[in-house]
Amino acid sequence: MTTVTLIPGDGIGPEITEAVKAIFAAAEVPITWEEENAGQTTFDAKGELIPQSLIDSLERNRIALKGPITTPVGKGFKSINVQLRQKFDLYSNVRPAKTTAGVKTRFENVDLVLFRENTEGLYSGLEMYDERLGISDSVARVTVEGCHKIVRAAFQYAATHKRPKVTVAHKANILKSAGRLILEAAANVSKEFPEVQWDEKIIDNMCMQLVSKPEQFEVIVTTNLFGDILSDLCAGLVGGLGVVSGANIGDDMAIFEAVHGSAPDIAGQGLANPTALLRSGLMMLQHMGLHEHADRIENALEITLLDKSCCTRDLGGTASTSEFAQHIISNL
Ligand code: NAI
Repeated sequence: MTTVTLIPGDGIGPEITEAVKAIFAAAEVPITWEEENAGQTTFDAKGELIPQSLIDSLERNRIALKGPITTPVGKGFKSINVQLRQKFDLYSNVRPAKTTAGVKTRFENVDLVLFRENTEGLYSGLEMYDERLGISDSVARVTVEGCHKIVRAAFQYAATHKRPKVTVAHKANILKSAGRLILEAAANVSKEFPEVQWDEKIIDNMCMQLVSKPEQFEVIVTTNLFGDILSDLCAGLVGGLGVVSGANIGDDMAIFEAVHGSAPDIAGQGLANPTALLRSGLMMLQHMGLHEHADRIENALEITLLDKSCCTRDLGGTASTSEFAQHIISNL
């Protein structure tokens, strides 16, 4: 049994977390949950957004599954997600996007994985506002080391998973130095992976290519802000935020999380779709080497998705969150 930190989060987080726990228990996944929360609920109860007990649990277990977290709006609150990623150097944000039978989308045969640098760029927190002049500066700090780490993660993934090509998305025609760093990193790292081809696309063209011919892409790697935007675009290609998974991976820690937010508009009503968190949990099982458990649950999920009446409202069905989970369990 491996102990995994479980962060239920806010809003719909606890409902979809319960669904995932029930499915993992039914599939006899050999893990024990250590539950520690963060976010608005924790702030209201304890006056802190990220309790020390959560940090201790993450440092002990080095692996976590996380529900969506509400970051209180207002001055002085830094995004909890960004804080966790930076504190534990979870530099690689990995977001697969794959079309699944039963999930409505205009595209077919999309099967790509996006690698977004997770700690640098415009998320470095280097912002200045001069009230007198009315000027705001946001520094997009990109480092040689950071570019090499994320590019190496993408090439390593392509080599391990027999993906023939990595595409680097950038804006080197305008961002002369930051854009150059990621391209130079790709040129250097590619020498370690002769079996993987690579090419590059300017970010605006990349968006156009993705929405017109997404099946041409295998593995995409890019800097933080471009990756943030592209990952939602890619989610849209395969059915939306409710069905895609995500992972924040560092050298010795990983936090797996649904890409969507805490959905306060539907929280507590049994309407939330647990697929995104479930698939993030399955990425976690693959990462832990529990491939058979992960494949068995993914198969059960895919069978369930084929029958609309078993699915939640966002997928065109009428089932509640827990009913959807029960259908997946019966299909195991
Ligand atoms: P959101 O993703 O929570 O909701 C957008 C829309 O999608 C809503 O209509 C919601 O009902 C629907 N939706 C989202 N997930 C769903 C699911 N699993 N099943 C069915 N419908 C679903 O985005 P929003 O409203 O912009 O953000 C709400 C809060 O979440 C904010 O406080 C934001 O900071 C936070 N957030 C947290 C994230 C995280 O923890 N990773 C990521 C994005 C936002």
